[in-house]
Amino acid sequence: MRILVTGGCGFIGSNFIRHVLGGHPGDEVVNLDALTYAGNLENLADVEADYPGRYRFVRGDICDADLARRLIDDSQAVVHFAAESHVDRSIEDASTFVRTNVLGTQVLLGAAHRSWTSGGGQDQERRFVHVSTDEVYGPLALDDPRGFAEDWPLNPQSPYSASKAGGDHLARAYHHTHGLPVVVTRCSNNYGLYQFPEKLVPLMIINALNGRELPVYGDGLYVRDWLYVLDHCRATDLVLRGGRPGEVYNVGGGSEQANLTVVQEIIRLVAECTGRPAEQMRGLIKHVKDRPGHDRRYAINAGKIMSELGYRPQMDFARGMAQTVEWYLDNRAWCERVTSGAYRGYYQRMYQGR
Ligand code: NAD
Ligand code: DAU
Repeated sequence: MRILVTGGCGFIGSNFIRHVLGGHPGDEVVNLDALTYAGNLENLADVEADYPGRYRFVRGDICDADLARRLIDDSQAVVHFAAESHVDRSIEDASTFVRTNVLGTQVLLGAAHRSWTSGGGQDQERRFVHVSTDEVYGPLALDDPRGFAEDWPLNPQSPYSASKAGGDHLARAYHHTHGLPVVVTRCSNNYGLYQFPEKLVPLMIINALNGRELPVYGDGLYVRDWLYVLDHCRATDLVLRGGRPGEVYNVGGGSEQANLTVVQEIIRLVAECTGRPAEQMRGLIKHVKDRPGHDRRYAINAGKIMSELGYRPQMDFARGMAQTVEWYLDNRAWCERVTSGAYRGYYQRMYQGR
């Protein structure tokens, strides 16, 4: 199978490409990525040499309809990761979020529809996996015993999640209206290797290593369901190969944690790995002005993907976090490169005087 992966130079996409090339020797991957600030060719530096003839990178924008059509004509499946993915940036300026997450998604769906109907009826052997997010469900109360199920109404609260909900609705509409073989996944917070340090986990690891402040928004009691990125890649792969067209599959890590607990665990691990006193790093925690409209909690009910496709998260939070901290420690040069240049300006805008 030739798979078009969009956004493959980002955090999850790059892990997914490695997972597919390593696990499915018969598959080829074409990676379409615009290389925004979040896309990094270094994340896949070894792949071309490791899998000769099975991987191709195309620099381009998912909003380019002609390019999308050409690439999809040549592919049996699309796994669509490309997005603007950071909530705080969507609060600063939502315009690129609407362009990429809504319009870009529609361009890909339109191209797949035209390409896969060109021989007559809709080719049901193809698959379009749309990677959505649990944030489309909106916040869950701390004392609510339920996790999000796939039939929950969508109630996005941030410009990011509203734009992702737009793409999610469109993906399902193309299935309903045109019979496009779309499958949607909604997953919780990923963490692991190659995550850009605008997100909580890598930002805290890198700041702790550099002895910088650890900025916790508000009271730090916001809860997320932490999912190790390689578990997410396995889940996406299961959906690609076995998911039923028109269906939605939630993916979670079964590991709800408050932000402060995550930060404390990172401090403990960094102290263990470097020999620096944990107490000193705890002193770097600073409660800063909260994120506007901050969703209190997300929690996933992953029963459907477990029972239908046999998914089980293999990584528990403690082990996953330990491996993540080790990866950032072993890849200091990568960390330095991604935190130089434009990242410094971003960091100042977001955190200075907060
Ligand atoms: P990321 O920000 O690390 O990577 C996004 C990638 O998309 C980058 O390589 C970027 O260059 C590319 N891209 C952006 N705009 C593009 C465009 N117009 N055309 C082509 N490429 C473009 O994102 P991520 O964390 O890897 O997330 C991947 C997907 O998973 C996103 O759709 C996100 O909404 C979803 N998701 C992420 C998480 C998470 O915790 N990271 C959780 C749930 C869902
Ligand atoms: O739930 C899935 C979503 O998870 C994905 O759809 C998004 O693409 C992804 O970015 C992530 O969104 P969050 O907003 O939950 O992730 P983030 O890492 O930005 O923040 C996690 C929590 O930590 C959140 O409650 C805000 C808080 N936080 C974040 C940062 C960057 C802080 O307290 N301090 C920080 O400096």
